[in-house]
Amino acid sequence: MSDGPTTPAKRRVGVLISGGGSNMAALIAAARDPAYPAEIVCVVSNVATAGGLAKAADAGVPTAVVDHRAYETREQFERAVVEVLDAHGVEIVALAGFMRLLTPWFIERWHDRLINIHPALLPSYKGLHTHARALADGVKIVGCTVHFVRPEMDVGPIIVQAAVPVADDDTAETLAARVLVQEHRIYPLALARVASGAARVVTDAEGRERVATDLAATLDATLLAPA
Ligand code: GRF
Repeated sequence: MSDGPTTPAKRRVGVLISGGGSNMAALIAAARDPAYPAEIVCVVSNVATAGGLAKAADAGVPTAVVDHRAYETREQFERAVVEVLDAHGVEIVALAGFMRLLTPWFIERWHDRLINIHPALLPSYKGLHTHARALADGVKIVGCTVHFVRPEMDVGPIIVQAAVPVADDDTAETLAARVLVQEHRIYPLALARVASGAARVVTDAEGRERVATDLAATLDATLLAPA
């Protein structure tokens, strides 16, 4: 027993990946701060060769591979993933470049405890190839979104977004790289808000959900592109 001030328990987070895991690495780095309200307790990949696995192991985070091809149905695969998450006492699941569609069963099991990062300003540009599609449309501002997961793909209450101006000479690759830098900023921010309880889902009179925010409006804070 210590007489010092007690530190609130950190929420236990499992991260699901399929690839390079740069967002996962950003979450692990942020969670090293003793004041951060969450800890990354395991990383699960459905792809054995995912580069993120080595990054997690190097950071001392336990990893597991659950290869979806070894299961007959999506739900059987997901039950195997849940077994790993439960074994680590996971309370919140963060999808970070996880490239499998999830069943309503999995999504409901983690209701309001399952978050995703998407490289676009949702509800625009759901799905794949977001940067190429945005460039083709000539939009001047793109960005990224962290949101709670609902059964429909890339839908769910938005927790944090970041906006990125588009330059004339941008390609899908240059845009993706600049948006990724912002992903690494907003994912740790969003996870902290979920873990601390600051990001709460509220439902309005029409039954629409959104995340309540305690931020006061600063009307002069705008992003013009081109400025
Ligand atoms: C990110 O752009 C993420 O938004 C998208 O897939 C990419 C994954 O990158 N869902 P990484 O694996 O986190 O490096």
